[in-house]
Amino acid sequence: MVKPIKVLMVCLGNICRSPLAEGILKSKIQNQNVIVDSAGTGAYHIGKLPDPRSIEVAKKHGIDITDQKARKISKADLDTFDFIFVMDESNYRNVLMMATNETQSAKISMIMKTIYPREDISVPDPYYGGDNGFEQVYQMLDEACDVIVNKINA
Ligand code: 4NP
Repeated sequence: MVKPIKVLMVCLGNICRSPLAEGILKSKIQNQNVIVDSAGTGAYHIGKLPDPRSIEVAKKHGIDITDQKARKISKADLDTFDFIFVMDESNYRNVLMMATNETQSAKISMIMKTIYPREDISVPDPYYGGDNGFEQVYQMLDEACDVIVNKINA
């Protein structure tokens, strides 16, 4: 049995952006030997379902994310996962601070770097905005996940 590739999606609350990223990437990889999970850097929403607006936008695109429960990223995640994609610069700083060696820190990157490697583009936090913010987040993550799938397949 070939070792699976493990991908972790990270945002602040693990209720808006990273659950969408997890759901979108899972929907694109289907039968491959890949494990996808998500987590938050904050503890406020541990155990909760994704935000209803994330559930709704996912559903609109044919993806069910209601099997997910928010959790906080742990130090062990930095060893367990092969790729750790964060949504914004604040997530990046927070996860990087948890790294204790170069192998761990090399796994961490902002997810939009997959498309724009030389720019620092964040997936904006949609929590306090309107519903359109969730569609915008969906579109950004959908594009980034296409690139991630291609990389995994390569
Ligand atoms: P997320 O969005 O990081 O994409 O899950 C947020 C969810 C909750 C909060 C902030 C961002 N909050 O402050 O509770």
